[in-house]
Amino acid sequence: MAFEVVANLSELPPGSLTEITIGDKQLALCNVDGAVHAIDGVCPHRNGPLGQGALHGSLVVCPWHAWEFDCITGRHDYNPSIRLDTFAVKVEGNDILVDL
Ligand code: FES
Repeated sequence: MAFEVVANLSELPPGSLTEITIGDKQLALCNVDGAVHAIDGVCPHRNGPLGQGALHGSLVVCPWHAWEFDCITGRHDYNPSIRLDTFAVKVEGNDILVDL
C-alpha cells in the first residue's frame, strides 16, 4: 500500500468524474464539492466502466445500466450490501494521490 500520483486536480473540477487505470486496477475518481474520492471503477453488475459514467452529487451512475454507487462510501444506492472498494485519497498541490 502506497500513495501514487494518479491524476491532476486541474483535470478533475468539482462535480466531475474520471476513469483511471493503474496497472491492472481500474478506479473511478470523483470530485464532490472539492473533495476527491476514489472507488473501484468496475461495476459489480456486468463490469461496466464506472469512471465513464455520470456524477450526480456523490452518486456515480454506471454508463451501462444506471446502477448508482456513492463515491464516498462505495455503497450501492438501493442495496447497501453491495459495496465497492474505496481508496484513500490525498491532494498535494495539483497532484491527486491514491493509496493503492
Ligand atoms: S454494468 Fe453497471 S449497471 Fe450494469
